[in-house]
Amino acid sequence: MPDVDASTVILGIETSCDETSAAIVLGGNDIASNVVSSQIDLHAEFGGVVPEVASRAHLEQLNPVIARAIIEAGIDESRIDAVACTVGPGLIGALLVGVSAAKGLSLVWDVPFVGVNHLEAHLYASLLDDPTIEFPLVVLLVSGGHTMLVEMHAPGEYRLLGQTIDDAAGEAFDKVARFCGLGYPGGPAVEQLAVDGDPTAAAFPRAMRDQGLDFSFSGLKTSVVNFVRKNPDVSVADVVASFQAAVVDVLVHKARRAADEVGAVGIALGGGVAANGVLRAALLDACAADGRRGYVPSPEMCTDNAAMIAAAGWHRLRLDGPSPLDTGATPNLRLV
Ligand code: KG4
Ligand code: ZN
Repeated sequence: MPDVDASTVILGIETSCDETSAAIVLGGNDIASNVVSSQIDLHAEFGGVVPEVASRAHLEQLNPVIARAIIEAGIDESRIDAVACTVGPGLIGALLVGVSAAKGLSLVWDVPFVGVNHLEAHLYASLLDDPTIEFPLVVLLVSGGHTMLVEMHAPGEYRLLGQTIDDAAGEAFDKVARFCGLGYPGGPAVEQLAVDGDPTAAAFPRAMRDQGLDFSFSGLKTSVVNFVRKNPDVSVADVVASFQAAVVDVLVHKARRAADEVGAVGIALGGGVAANGVLRAALLDACAADGRRGYVPSPEMCTDNAAMIAAAGWHRLRLDGPSPLDTGATPNLRLV
C-alpha cells in the first residue's frame, strides 16, 4: 500500500440513512467533489424514513452518484487510492448497499477498502472546513440518531463524555414537528416556523441541565404535547420557538460545561441538528464569552455527506491501514 499523505485520493461512500452520497477527497481535507442525492421527497409522504424504501433508492442512486463524484472531481478513476464507506451505525439494508459497492470497487481497482464509523466521520466535519482547528476540542455531535459530547485530542483520539439516555436531539425535533403537523424532516421545518414565534412563550423543562454530561429529550417532547393539549389555541410558532430554545439551551450549556471540565480550547458542532441557525449562533456566542474558539461547519458538512466519510477514511487508513474485506455492516456500531 502506498504512503497515506496529502496526495492520497479517497472515494468516500455514504448510504447509512436517507442520503446517497459519494465524494472524492485528497489528503483527508481537500474536497474535489461531494455529490449528495437526498431521499427526503421519497420519505416525506410517510412522515419519516422507511427502511425498505431507503435501501431501494440507494440501489438505484449509488452508481450514478459515484460516477458523478468522479466526473466532478475531474480525475481518472485510476487515481483513486482507496475506497472508504460507512459500515455503521445506520439502517442495515441501506448500509449494505454502500458496503457491497465499496468492496466491489476496491476489488476491481485493487485498492484498499476502509470501513468508516459514521459517527467518527461527523466528528471530522469541522476539520474539513477548518484544517487549522486546535486541540483539545469538545465536539457536540447532534444528529437524528445521536446526541453526544466527545473530547477530541487529535484525529482518531477521542473519548465519549456524555450522550442521550433516550431520544436524540434531532429525533425530538422530528417528533415535535410531526406532532405539530410540520412534516418531515422536522428540524428545518421547526427552525423556519420558530422565526415567527416567541421563544419565551412556554417555559419547557431543561431536563438534566445541571446534572452530568448526559442528555434526556423525551420528557421535553411529552411536555410539548401536554402543553398544546392544555392550550389548544396557542400559536404553533410560539410552541416550536420555545421548544427549540429549550433544546439549544441544554445543548450549549452542557457543551460549555464539558469544555470547562476537560480544558478544551474550542467547541465544534457536528451532525444534522448543527445546521440549526439558533444553535450555531448560541454556541458561537457562548464560545466568544468564554474566550474559546467555536467551530460551526457549513450546513452541507453538518448533514450526512460522503466527504466526511472520505476524510475519516483517510485518517483511519493512515492510523490502522485497510479494513479486511469481511468487515460487515453494523447497524448499532458505537463510537467508542
Ligand atoms: O446527521 P443527519 O443528517 O442524519 C443522521 O445521521 O441522523 O441528521 C438528521 C437530523 C434530523 O433529525 C433533522 O431533523 C435534523 O438533523 N436537522 C435539524 C436541522 N436540519 C436537520 N434539526 C434542527 N434544525 C435544523 N435546521
Ligand atoms: Zn449522520
